[in-house]
Amino acid sequence: MKEKEKNTPVANNLQDAAKMLSLVSHKLRTPLSIINGYSEAILSQSSKEKFSPFTTKALEEINKQGTKLCGLVDKLMFFNKVENLQPKDLAKKQINLKNLLKLCANDAISHEEDSATVPSTAAVAKRGTFIEIDCPSNLEIKSDEELMAFLLEELMANAIKFNNKPEKIIKVQCAHHGDSISISVRDYGAGVRPQDVNKIFEQFYQVDDYFTGQIDGWGLGLPMVKKILDLHDGSISVISDRGLGTIFTVSLPVA
Ligand SMILES: Nc1ncnc2c1ncn2[C@@H]1O[C@H](COP(=O)(O)OP(=O)(O)O)[C@@H](O)[C@H]1O
Ligand SMILES: [Mg+2]
Repeated sequence: MKEKEKNTPVANNLQDAAKMLSLVSHKLRTPLSIINGYSEAILSQSSKEKFSPFTTKALEEINKQGTKLCGLVDKLMFFNKVENLQPKDLAKKQINLKNLLKLCANDAISHEEDSATVPSTAAVAKRGTFIEIDCPSNLEIKSDEELMAFLLEELMANAIKFNNKPEKIIKVQCAHHGDSISISVRDYGAGVRPQDVNKIFEQFYQVDDYFTGQIDGWGLGLPMVKKILDLHDGSISVISDRGLGTIFTVSLPVA
């Protein structure tokens, strides 16, 4: 926080909001875990107990929605943590970029396929996602591994999520130019209209249109991506258009 913002009403309100967010998230996490635990336990008995199809379906839905809510609460808690970080809090180390990208791509595919709620109006295949990674094997970045993994997975997850193609091709390309490293994540999905491109980095903003507006989310991923890059002295740019797809390009200093 800037020096002159300390103890102002705006700063106090922001601190109160952050505290409330953290408190509410923690308070929600425990009952949600209990709901999920019990619904899973009952479901595991379904073959022995011979539940009716309605009971099984209801339990599955309780479990699905509970798991989804847990994911959202976890994201809110992580958002609160990231928002309050300062450069001195980072645990920076040398990381092999290609290995990290492979891990993030696998996580993005498995999370998006698990949590996808496909709008009934859109023809979206859950399977058929391909992430191609073009990165020199020896390229390393100096960064906080947990934060950088979140950032890369978020960009790939968005490329899968906001994608109305039956076969989703995502291309990740990395290059070393002088004292910076660039990582671009390209999809051929729904895209964003040029007038919305800057707004997608605002907290809680989601483009509200026929396709992307029906996809689950909180509009917190890209604001966190931006904050993580600020903490690493990096930057991000976007090229996108409706129906053509999107290219996010991250730039990070080498040192
Ligand atoms: N690859 C993409 N293609 C199309 N739209 C995107 C893409 N990435 C982000 N967006 C748009 O930007 C909004 C904000 O993204 P984000 O902050 O990650 O939030 P969330 O994923 O929770 O919706 C999304 O709701 C979507 O409208
Ligand atoms: Mg997102």
